[in-house]
Amino acid sequence: MINPLHDCIINKNTTNNPIWFMRQAGRYLPEFQKIRKLNPNFINLCLNQNLASEITLQPLRRFDLSAAIIFSDILMVPYALDQKVNFKKNFGPELEDFNIKNLIEFNKKEFIEKLKPIYNCIKKTKSNNLLRNKNLIGFIGAPWTLLVYMINKKSPKKEISKNFFNNKDLINNILKVLDKFLKIHVENQINNGADIIQIFDSWAGLLDEKDLYKYVYNPTLSIVNFIKKKNVPVICFPRGIKNYKNYIECVKPDAICIDYEVDPLLIKKEITIPVQGGLNPNILLSDKENVKKEALKYLDIFKDHPYIFNLGHGVLPETNPMMIDYLVKFVNDY
Ligand code: CP3
Repeated sequence: MINPLHDCIINKNTTNNPIWFMRQAGRYLPEFQKIRKLNPNFINLCLNQNLASEITLQPLRRFDLSAAIIFSDILMVPYALDQKVNFKKNFGPELEDFNIKNLIEFNKKEFIEKLKPIYNCIKKTKSNNLLRNKNLIGFIGAPWTLLVYMINKKSPKKEISKNFFNNKDLINNILKVLDKFLKIHVENQINNGADIIQIFDSWAGLLDEKDLYKYVYNPTLSIVNFIKKKNVPVICFPRGIKNYKNYIECVKPDAICIDYEVDPLLIKKEITIPVQGGLNPNILLSDKENVKKEALKYLDIFKDHPYIFNLGHGVLPETNPMMIDYLVKFVNDY
């Protein structure tokens, strides 16, 4: 039997809508909170292969989802390149300085060694019975989004500072390093059992159209081509981008994940490749009638289009797991 996301992305099957959620393994689940409380260091938790595997599987123990996404973070790559990353409560990630010479010369073996627990976690998770006939999604941050974190050293607000682009040499060097190590990271995830890759470009929306070619389209295309050569489908999530059609023409992903500010009708009209996501995660904080109405909107619009049900961003920590349960059953019965 072919896995549900492959059936949608490769076979373009429209009779079923596979369903999974970004941040499906996370703080809205009491069983996650329980583990998290005992493991205050988030990076170390991501590097604990047994716990990371268990957390990856937690949502699948509760809900009939089509896929698991490996419990990890896009910032594990700067971490593995020796840029220190801390996750502060109610603040988000905070990165320390890095040495560009060290980055350029960074040893491939050492990088893989540092991230070995992630690859072991993927291998272990893949063989779990809960994943029979389901997909295991691996992921990376897009070069642009990682560049933002590495230079800005924390999540940007609504814009990046004017002097962000001051040192062009530095930026070009970081992009080169990221191209190399993101490919290594993706390759190891695939070799250990990830059968779909999602590329998160959370800060793509911060750039003007004219800058997208250099920082988003070209660097992402390089990685997309690398993944395609491995025969693994790649889903791109360029959050906040205005022109999805142009993005798809330039980057050529196998499927596109849309955020909640995009008009799904326009997407349906303009885009021929499989689509994922869209529903505003805030809707899950309202009532069942509203969840049903909003989910139906996406299901109806994309009923003759290969469509993977998901949200337009991650599950919010305040979400009641009962609401996820309701939504999964609703979509699976549609
Ligand atoms: O279930 C899953 O989706 C898989 C695991 C996953 C995490 N982060 C775990 C996590 C994935 C795919 C990510 C991606 C990620 N990480 C992105 C891209 C998606 C997006 O949110 O735009 C980004 C930008 C990051 C960086 C990051 N990690 C931030 C900004 C934060 C703090 C904000 C927040 O949501 O807490 C994190 C921490 C993080 N990553 C948590 C989880 C479960 C929360 C950690 C905790 O405090 O328990």
